[in-house]
Amino acid sequence: MRAMVVRRYGPPEVFECREMPDPEPAPGQALLRVRAVGINFADLLQRMGLYPGTPRPPFVPGLEVAGVFESVFGDAAREASAVGSAPPSEEVLRPGDRVVALATFSAYAERVAVPVHLAFRLPEPISFEDAAAIPVNYLTAYHSMFQMGNLQPGDRILIHGAAGGVGIAAVQLARARKLVIFGTAGPSKQEFLRQIGVDYPIDYTREDFRTVVRRVAPDGIEMVMDPIGGKSFARSCDCLGATGRLVVYGFSAAAGPGGRRSLWRSLKALAQTPWFHPLRLMRRNISVIGVNLGRMKGREGLLRRQLEEIFRLYAAGQIKPVISKVFPLEQAAEAHRYIHARQNIGKVVLTVE
Ligand SMILES: NC(=O)c1ccc[n+]([C@@H]2O[C@H](COP(=O)([O-])OP(=O)(O)OC[C@H]3O[C@@H](n4cnc5c(N)ncnc54)[C@H](OP(=O)(O)O)[C@@H]3O)[C@@H](O)[C@H]2O)c1
Repeated sequence: MRAMVVRRYGPPEVFECREMPDPEPAPGQALLRVRAVGINFADLLQRMGLYPGTPRPPFVPGLEVAGVFESVFGDAAREASAVGSAPPSEEVLRPGDRVVALATFSAYAERVAVPVHLAFRLPEPISFEDAAAIPVNYLTAYHSMFQMGNLQPGDRILIHGAAGGVGIAAVQLARARKLVIFGTAGPSKQEFLRQIGVDYPIDYTREDFRTVVRRVAPDGIEMVMDPIGGKSFARSCDCLGATGRLVVYGFSAAAGPGGRRSLWRSLKALAQTPWFHPLRLMRRNISVIGVNLGRMKGREGLLRRQLEEIFRLYAAGQIKPVISKVFPLEQAAEAHRYIHARQNIGKVVLTVE
């Protein structure tokens, strides 16, 4: 099979298309024929060697995939159950089933072995491309906002990177829950934010988001979703009122320009990261919530329930991934460059013919 290999940590040019043997599913794994792969910002950080837990090169990135189920190791099929209202008799994946799955790396390839309990049967109307754009973005947003954040209609939320993959998912889920939405993005994405229903779009190059939030909500808001990191975490905290929740789920500030590693930039972002003293949190009556979708081991049932709800919202027309651009698998480097240049509005997907 063909796979896109990261030869060494570095800029997008480190990708190389190689012929490799098909993966053999290990115990507890399912083998999928890949049709579409969702690109995540984490993939970019992994390629740069900036993401904790990344394998040493050479490695094949890719954390989410849609495709066709081929086989499992041994009896593991019994563990693979379907999402949705399928009766128990149908809860075993069968060869040929359309599935979406969370992978542990290796999805930029024609075939991938994934943990069988993280492979979910795909409801019929969802295309492979849409499916590959759903799990990471929508689960991250849903888990943060409703599982950890318990947001209620009328609550106010600030979403950073609101024109990015997780950001758009969060905006759509916020609209479905009737929240008041503040969203930040670069200057060229402001009109888009308005179109998707952000009540208060903020161009962070022109305005301090704290000023906008405090002008509209002098008492402070209920949640900020912050994947930027560095000094942004402290500023986001300034927007919270009593009962406010800061969700920290990324550290984009560490990524250097053009997709190159920048030790200086990473250290600067780390140095600007605030310490949250528990007594100060208590005094202000606020919470800081860390979310990491990669650390949900043993919580697969929760992910399954959340994904069921996400598919229900999709079927009801309340959410729909925005796909910025689709690249063929071999153009993974081009796709990464596109994201580094911040050209994407929404998700970037790789497809395999
Ligand atoms: N913890 C988790 O489980 C989890 C899961 C998924 C994603 N994440 C994190 O969430 C963040 C967003 O992920 P995503 O996949 O939605 O990303 P994405 O679609 O690529 O969107 C990211 C947006 O962030 C902004 N940005 C800020 N700093 C940037 C930088 N240095 N380089 C490029 N863009 C930058 C850009 O918007 P503007 O042009 O508007 O600034 C960009 O469009 C990432 O930090 C990712 O690691 C965490």
